[in-house]
Amino acid sequence: MLVTESRAQLRARLRAVRKALSAPQQQQAGAAIARQLFQLTEVANARMVAAYLANDGEPSLGPTISQAWQEKIQITLPVLHPFTGKHLLFLQYHQHSVMTTNRFNIAEPVLSCPAVVPLGNHDVILMPLVGFDAAGNRLGMGGGFYDRTLAALPDKHRPALIGIAHTCQQVDNLPVQNWDIPCDVIVTPHTCIRP
Ligand SMILES: Nc1ncnc2c1ncn2[C@@H]1O[C@H](COP(=O)(O)OP(=O)(O)OP(=O)(O)O)[C@@H](O)[C@H]1O
Ligand SMILES: [Mg+2]
Repeated sequence: MLVTESRAQLRARLRAVRKALSAPQQQQAGAAIARQLFQLTEVANARMVAAYLANDGEPSLGPTISQAWQEKIQITLPVLHPFTGKHLLFLQYHQHSVMTTNRFNIAEPVLSCPAVVPLGNHDVILMPLVGFDAAGNRLGMGGGFYDRTLAALPDKHRPALIGIAHTCQQVDNLPVQNWDIPCDVIVTPHTCIRP
């Protein structure tokens, strides 16, 4: 990585790299990430896991979600908060969830208050990212959605924050800001990095 690269430049470069992965590479990555995740005690013992639906070349959590459902682990998905600007809600997600498309053209469950799962009821939050480093720092898409939402993380029952990435998304030293929430673990198809 060039030390002079700004966050915006890094985002553009790393998004292009992950988008250039072929369909078979993406498929293998999604399967390998599921295998890695279920080796983690945080995931194997979880009852409630926040996932995401892949967009923009992010690794697919499809195999992970399927296995979680088989193992009776409940899955939630992020939904754009309708009132609080740039925050996320997490809603229960199952095979029969009614879906809609948000303003970023990403599928999300239709908002329904009984389906909202509070942040602190999760055991694990799986987060997409654009870039990461070995210290667990995370660069997202630039909206600050996860940072804002996770700033309200409860202390008592704090979910494990697991960043999901392709190997090519690692950089040496990510330029971080004081609002950036780091990951406890980063899982790629080949490694599990615990800072
Ligand atoms: N806790 C917070 N409260 C208010 N604003 C915040 C907070 N966290 C981040 N922001 C704002 O969000 C904007 C984007 O932040 P940042 O560049 O870190 O996004 P990101 O980490 O790439 O995105 P995301 O969190 O959606 O993955 C920044 O302008 C920042 O000021
Ligand atoms: Mg951030």
